[in-house]
Amino acid sequence: MTQVTSHDAYFTQLSDALRTANLFRPTMLLDLDRLDRNIDRVAASIPEALDLRVVAKSLPSPQLLDHVTARAQTNRLMVFHQPFLNQLAATQPDKDLLIGKPFPVGAAARFYDHHIANQFDPSKQLQWLVDTPARLHDYAALATQRELQMNITIEIDVGLHRGGVSDPAQTAAMLDVIAATPNLTFTGLMGYDAHVAKVPTAFGMQKREFTSVLDRYQAHLSVLQNKLTPDEYAALTLNAAGSPTFRRYQDIDFVTELAAGSALVKPLDFDLPDLADLEPAIFIGTPVLKASGPTQIPALNGLGNLWAKFDRNRARTFFIYGGYWKAHPVSPTGLSNNSLYGRSTNQEVLNGSTDVQLAPEDFVFLRPTQSEFVMLQFGDLAIVRGGQVVDYWPTLAQGS
Ligand SMILES: Cc1ncc(COP(=O)(O)O)c(C=O)c1O
Repeated sequence: MTQVTSHDAYFTQLSDALRTANLFRPTMLLDLDRLDRNIDRVAASIPEALDLRVVAKSLPSPQLLDHVTARAQTNRLMVFHQPFLNQLAATQPDKDLLIGKPFPVGAAARFYDHHIANQFDPSKQLQWLVDTPARLHDYAALATQRELQMNITIEIDVGLHRGGVSDPAQTAAMLDVIAATPNLTFTGLMGYDAHVAKVPTAFGMQKREFTSVLDRYQAHLSVLQNKLTPDEYAALTLNAAGSPTFRRYQDIDFVTELAAGSALVKPLDFDLPDLADLEPAIFIGTPVLKASGPTQIPALNGLGNLWAKFDRNRARTFFIYGGYWKAHPVSPTGLSNNSLYGRSTNQEVLNGSTDVQLAPEDFVFLRPTQSEFVMLQFGDLAIVRGGQVVDYWPTLAQGS
């Protein structure tokens, strides 16, 4: 059996790790050495006075979240999915959880329906996110009916326009409703600004937008300062940022914490100037099943050969195990999808030039464009340390 590959030293080592672990199927590899360097660099760039809140959806494995929070010395997680919320409350009862999107009130009710009493105290360790007066009304009714003590953090629109309160007067009105509802406690604000990194840098547009984000945030804070006692104000969670923007908050002292998750494993969409010091730490490794010359397009005999004459990167065809993930092939270099043949989740076609020397049972590596959904598609994560698969970490479960 020939084992000719054209990987660099890093991917040759990952291939060897997969082979040694007998992982001849699509595998999500997590490089713990790279992850640790990323955690240290991210933690070092959180200003002294602020805390890091780890975005759980972007690192969707209980052991991974434990590893990251322990190394970064934080117990704060941001959670986006009701089944994951139940799992985290059950298995990581020491964490402080902030919901990252406004759940339908039925999802909040379901959390309580399925939560089995343990050390985790939702009245102290869980903040629900509320974006409108109507949802606040629903949460107030749930809390009162079930005699729950629920913490309410208000989502504010700082410029992303994905919802949330934009008018500070509405924040003031919602604060009054919370104050008048004994079963609700106001716990803070969340303002997410990922759009800033996408604004063109030309003519100072991006910098100006970030200044506007900060101004919008502060307008809501003025309302809180007028309505709350200094002690109440000092206890608030004032959450901002995400992976694309947290490094812009170096000199900002009016928020209390910065959110980041994806940056720690750095999928492709996070190849941003602000994150240049971080290393990609997740890769899909999957075996080549079949290797041949130009792709034979069904019912269009000869078209693949003709195409290969005009494009040297169509000279070879590789069918891989699985495919159609939110990911791009990265090793060997020069592989691409075939739009004429189409995509497949079962056996995907990749084309390359005659320089790409892959044979069946060699491995191809792809880099996910995002972590949150892609990391859930492969079963347990294969944990790599020192170039070896050393452990398997289950992902968060969808559950019931
Ligand atoms: C409210 C909120 N905060 C922060 C983040 C940042 O997550 P990440 O750091 O993984 O990009 C997100 C991502 O969707 C979000 O919705």
